[in-house]
Amino acid sequence: MSGISKVDAIQVFDSRGIPTISCKITLDCGVSASAMVPSGASTGSKEALELRDNGINYHGKGVLQAVSNINEKLAPLLIGIDPSDQAEIDNMLIGFDGTEDKSTMGANAILAISLAVAHAAAKEKNIPLYEYFSNLYKEITGDYLKPSIPMPMFNILNGGEHADNNIDIQEFMIIPSGAKDFSEIMRWSSEIYHHLKNILLSKQYLTAVGDEGGFAPSLKSNEEAIKLIIESIEASNLKPGKDVHIALDCAASEFFDGEKYILKSENIKLTSAEFISYLKNLVGKYPIISIEDALDEDDLEGWKLITKELGNDCQLVGDDLFVTNEKILSNGVKQGIANSILIKFNQVGSITETIKTIHCANENKFKSIISHRSGETEDTTIADLAVGLGVGQIKTGAPCRSDRIAKYNRLLWIEHESTDILLNE
Ligand code: PGA
Ligand code: ZN
Repeated sequence: MSGISKVDAIQVFDSRGIPTISCKITLDCGVSASAMVPSGASTGSKEALELRDNGINYHGKGVLQAVSNINEKLAPLLIGIDPSDQAEIDNMLIGFDGTEDKSTMGANAILAISLAVAHAAAKEKNIPLYEYFSNLYKEITGDYLKPSIPMPMFNILNGGEHADNNIDIQEFMIIPSGAKDFSEIMRWSSEIYHHLKNILLSKQYLTAVGDEGGFAPSLKSNEEAIKLIIESIEASNLKPGKDVHIALDCAASEFFDGEKYILKSENIKLTSAEFISYLKNLVGKYPIISIEDALDEDDLEGWKLITKELGNDCQLVGDDLFVTNEKILSNGVKQGIANSILIKFNQVGSITETIKTIHCANENKFKSIISHRSGETEDTTIADLAVGLGVGQIKTGAPCRSDRIAKYNRLLWIEHESTDILLNE
């Protein structure tokens, strides 16, 4: 083993041009590795705290305090420690912070170290990062998961907080479920994406893209977005509902006013039960197999109802609802809400806690979907996490823009180099 000799962090920038943290870990043997943290826009209220400087620079969004927390306060704790003691390192950082939401040091500071430690440990062992995560899952939980290539959800049409258009639903995604391997998945998604562009152009709609690389036109309704996507699947000579399915992320907390779901594109206000009927109607008409944050994160009665009414036909994913938090997920399972969880490591703030949450999901037969944030970097850690833990699904934006494509390109390399790792069934 080779101990940590240096921990160094700097402020860098994410895909929205907003500051974030890059952390580099160097070992005695000379190996070094770095990682960057992502950042959300439609965040859940119970996420761990992303420490921002709140000054006048960078519109208050600087992370220099969090960077200094790493370099001045956390780095000295790590010198000499074996980087493959990931769980001990994460727990030590969490203990030093001392708060439930990591607000003393910042979840962004702790996660930056946690990610860089994982990269350095894998590099020192000379194994791919996905294999390191697979081993770590076994070490932390005692269970083994077979690594596999995940099926992506490509967010090809953006609305909500991720675009300046009028569309209420945040993400309209395609799932190339009938593709035979990852290369075919990428071909289909790229062809559908470019057909969608041509269809939008032919209707004189804008083809500028939103935060996650999907097109962001203003449309007459949310349903029109789905119709355009169906058209683009068919234009690619693929069959909607057979080759390609559709997933939505409503991010409904963003348009719930405490009483009603306000769909501004359609000029309607719906109660929880009415919004559930609205979604049921869409599921009945189109091949929608997954809906994320269908309802507000505090509308638990609504969540119980939709799980009863749609839970057998549709993957119901909790993002803001569970915020990658094991305790919140366990409570949700007890209450019978949702059947799947979105996994974003910066919602909870460390690799170890992320793994425990995925384990809790597995124990309760909940599906896990590894996810990017709307503010991303060229960091590709989530691709390896999805493969190593064999969770089966990933969502990391459109097949467009380097911050999104970096993850898909990493998956193409994994598929190319590891013939024993197959597409998850
Ligand atoms: P966020 O969006 O990163 O802005 O939270 C992604 C999502 O809601 O899934
Ligand atoms: Zn979401």
